[in-house]
Amino acid sequence: MKKVKVGIVGLGRLGRKHAGNLAFRIPHCELTAVCSVVEEEVQEVMDAWNIPYGYTKYEDMLANPELDAIFIASPSNFHCEQIKQALSLGFHVFSEKPLGLYVEEALDVETAVKAHPDQVFMLGFMRRYDRSYMAAKEKIEAGIIGKPFLIRCYGLDPASKMDSFLTFARANYSGGLFLDMSIHDFDLARWYLGEEAKEVWAIGGSYARPEFDEIEDAETGAAMVRFENNAIGIFVAGRNCAHGYHIETEIIGTKGTLRIGTVPERNQVVIMKDEGVIQECVDGFLERFEQAYLSETEEFINCILDKRKPAITVKDGVQSTILGYSCKKSFETGRLIQVKTEKIIQG
Ligand SMILES: NC(=O)c1ccc[n+]([C@@H]2O[C@H](COP(=O)([O-])OP(=O)(O)OC[C@H]3O[C@@H](n4cnc5c(N)ncnc54)[C@H](O)[C@@H]3O)[C@@H](O)[C@H]2O)c1
Repeated sequence: MKKVKVGIVGLGRLGRKHAGNLAFRIPHCELTAVCSVVEEEVQEVMDAWNIPYGYTKYEDMLANPELDAIFIASPSNFHCEQIKQALSLGFHVFSEKPLGLYVEEALDVETAVKAHPDQVFMLGFMRRYDRSYMAAKEKIEAGIIGKPFLIRCYGLDPASKMDSFLTFARANYSGGLFLDMSIHDFDLARWYLGEEAKEVWAIGGSYARPEFDEIEDAETGAAMVRFENNAIGIFVAGRNCAHGYHIETEIIGTKGTLRIGTVPERNQVVIMKDEGVIQECVDGFLERFEQAYLSETEEFINCILDKRKPAITVKDGVQSTILGYSCKKSFETGRLIQVKTEKIIQG
């Protein structure tokens, strides 16, 4: 079978994980080119993994005639332009979330994806490929908890990564707490509830580290969302979780409740000693979602080979961006925001 030849842009925390999966763990896929603005990163990955082509300019990578697909793991403010450029040159495209930092950007990408119906486009909402989140979806569809009407999500980054995050956030790369972190939860809420958000009120602040005030972002925040069918969403996001990386989701239905990740344990080892009973916690997204990152990448490559489209659509990216941006706006203005595209754009 023909191998799909992929070029990846962005070789940072997540880019390197994706690059490793593409290079070594996916059948019928070859990591042919790597690109980053940092030359040392490019050289290091090329040398270590024997990658034939390396670039410091994205446009140069796009000019490589051997490539079939582009994998985007650059900072979020570049996604929109890089997706559009790659699509216009005929490539299949996988992009990390979010689709864009602004609603206009997300709508722009949607237009570009629709203009290239024969190319595969996939967005990195990897939780939909995590075994536990997939099992929860199956149980909801089987009616185990009746009709879901409330979703409560915790997305908490470890306090130990706060300094590196502050550097990332200061560069204006992230889009803020809600667009950067809660976006996964917004996508899950839409997926599980089958509804779009109607209105949102978001608050937040800096409790351990005042630097977040300086960059006009929240260290910890919460959003309360009413969905079109009156279902409720409660979304808590934070950067200061003392015990590690805590991703927890609860879905309450008319006949029962599902919980995923209530204790974000690293493994099944329980340590019992004089200081108490301890279960170690995962320390970040790379550890918690290792299987999901691999499975989503497999799906992207299989979609190209099988000439089919992934279940996650560009509309999922647009709607989650609209909700994330509405939360940002509510947090900044202190107002209840009606989640309507035109209103968000016009302010
Ligand atoms: N799905 C998830 O769970 C998840 C987790 C973390 C990050 N992300 C997303 O992945 C993306 C990357 O995040 P990260 O944490 O790996 O960031 P990072 O800062 O660690 O890495 C960014 C990489 O992109 C390179 N780069 C910067 N500007 C570039 C440009 N103009 N052209 C080419 N390369 C450029 C940097 O040199 C670096 O290699 C972000 O959009 C982020 O939102 C998703």
